[in-house]
Amino acid sequence: MSELATLFQAHIDERQRSTAQALADTAFEALVISSGKVYTHFADDQDAPFHPTPHFAHWCPVAGPHHLLVLCQGRRPRLIRFAPEDFWYEQAPLGNPFWASAFDIEEVGSVEDAWKALGALPRAAYIGNETDRAEAAGLALNPTLLTAHLDWHRTTKSPYEVACIEEATVIAARGHQAAREAFLAGGSELEIHYTYIQAAGLVDHEMPYGSIVGLNEKGAILHYEGKRADVRNGQVLLIDAGAQVRRYAADITRTVAAPHCHPTFQSLVQGMERVELALCDQVKPGLAYGDLHHQGHLLIADLLQAQGILKAGPEEALEKGLSRPFFPHGLGHHLGIQVHDVAGRQGSPDGTPAPPPPQHPTLRTTRTIEAGQVFTVEPGLYFIPMLLRPFRENEHKGLFNWQLIDELTPCGGIRIEDNLLVTATGQRNLTRPQLPMYT
Ligand code: GLY
Ligand code: MN
Ligand code: MN
Repeated sequence: MSELATLFQAHIDERQRSTAQALADTAFEALVISSGKVYTHFADDQDAPFHPTPHFAHWCPVAGPHHLLVLCQGRRPRLIRFAPEDFWYEQAPLGNPFWASAFDIEEVGSVEDAWKALGALPRAAYIGNETDRAEAAGLALNPTLLTAHLDWHRTTKSPYEVACIEEATVIAARGHQAAREAFLAGGSELEIHYTYIQAAGLVDHEMPYGSIVGLNEKGAILHYEGKRADVRNGQVLLIDAGAQVRRYAADITRTVAAPHCHPTFQSLVQGMERVELALCDQVKPGLAYGDLHHQGHLLIADLLQAQGILKAGPEEALEKGLSRPFFPHGLGHHLGIQVHDVAGRQGSPDGTPAPPPPQHPTLRTTRTIEAGQVFTVEPGLYFIPMLLRPFRENEHKGLFNWQLIDELTPCGGIRIEDNLLVTATGQRNLTRPQLPMYT
């Protein structure tokens, strides 16, 4: 067995154990998960790029729609593989992939035959979007409680899943290095984007999310989608781009200041590298992720004061909400099959909500940090006119250096994002070995 096959078998063994527990806890005896059907755009004959049901991808890396996975207590997992004859789309033979020995595999030539092959399954649940067929088969459709249990287990990554994320990181790191060079050579957003894609060796639909490639003020638009071709020799590049391997994502952001960038902004970029690394260092089991987010605000407020942007210390700045317009998003999120992976706001396996505190409404995970979790740490510091505007008039306006803020606004923003695996005693940074510090 290859090393990956061994890791995969252990991953499946753990899925068997946790799924059996989830089924027992929710009074089901079997579970059918389909890879799903394609989404066709409204009033069109074009399909969106296919994304398998995440719960299916958690079990099986086979590509394509309509496969069924059948999971019964005490039985080996069954994969009913949809393998039609087709001249519109390529239907590659399965071959002998490293994961195949974990399943009893049957091949069927049509969707009807896939569902017929299921047979009778008493007390069975279904997860996926082929709900008409599942209802006709008498399955309980996407039960909320069972899904919550399965989502909860997805936040603890197996060594196989970590290996997938690390492989994705190697690919993304090649893209980031090349993108940095393209930026420093004066490239446009479009050229930097193409450079990333080419170096990573990916096509667009293989990316885990649309890359954010912002020069200058566009770096302050958190989900900027443009790829301008007509702006060159930027002062600042903010690039948030990843890669995926067997559906597992890397999610990495780097901010680069060119030599001609405003010197205070250059200092802020260096300061944010230190802030990000200090936050990563604090990660360990038992810490509430929300407390880490709070620490992030304190460190960013401290940096803002040190650079003469805020005229208040970190505690006063937090109490008055002065760091929030500069850092308006959550510090990070779980990472896995979904880039914003599931169950970050779940308080327990049964799906009890754990909403973010009112002062940090954008926090995506309120969980206590535990060994085996993988999440991002991505502090940001932006000059966003819309968020700063109210402070120009309110009772705190004297605590901001507006002249300096106006000078720095054309530089946009800074975000530095790494992916961390929580270990028994601390954390392992999955990103830095591939993408060390720029500054
Ligand atoms: N790339 C999206 C995010 O960082 O959350
Ligand atoms: Mn992220
Ligand atoms: Mn990101």
